[in-house]
Amino acid sequence: MIQIAIDGPGGAGKSTVAKAVAAKLGIVYVDTGALYRTVGYYVRQKDISPDDREGVGAILCEISIEIKYVDGAQHVFLNGEDLGDKIRTPEMSMYASKVSAIPAVRAFLLDTQRDIAKKNSVIMDGRDIGTVILPNADVKIFLTASEECRAMRRYKELIERGQDVKYEDVLAEMNQRDKQDSTRDVAPTAAAADAVLLDNTGMTFDQTVDAVIALAMEKRGK
Ligand code: DC
Repeated sequence: MIQIAIDGPGGAGKSTVAKAVAAKLGIVYVDTGALYRTVGYYVRQKDISPDDREGVGAILCEISIEIKYVDGAQHVFLNGEDLGDKIRTPEMSMYASKVSAIPAVRAFLLDTQRDIAKKNSVIMDGRDIGTVILPNADVKIFLTASEECRAMRRYKELIERGQDVKYEDVLAEMNQRDKQDSTRDVAPTAAAADAVLLDNTGMTFDQTVDAVIALAMEKRGK
């Protein structure tokens, strides 16, 4: 069994890199951001403000979240419904970021994340995986890149998904979200003390994947 934690700000390529590493190593990829997006989606459906801590806390008992893997791809089910790409919009990104600052939401999602890592070898990406969720992970990586590079990647990803977005808006939204995520009181985005910092500005996707695999091999060998 191996646990690989990848944390970092938005647009660093955590999810695409982690997915590729998981496929190469034959382990399970866990996208934890999808869980916060799912809570955000339900909060939006219920017309509750994502800033309303009490309101959000009160509806958590109505939520059942399940993660299933179909052909190796992670699907998140909210009360039995596969949400698919509905959680991938800029609006859902902002809802996810806001509800993720609420301690009750983080506590609600804790066991779901830890249980998967107990039963499977995983590469898990998020903001607090190395610091809070899997503090004993075998490999911890803090993946980052320059602001412009990250915003451009996110922009291209959204355009490829057919969304009508402007680069400037993507950059502004990304910065606002990163600020929220890294300055919140509970489990802010942070590199664990024993994490390896990997800045992939100017690195290709394949180079980043290879670098993560090399780090995993090196740590495992020790
Ligand atoms: O990784 P992502 O963009 O899908 O994450 C959406 C939001 O969820 C992000 O802005 C902050 C929150 N999040 C978190 O607080 N902790 C995690 N482990 C993963 C995501």
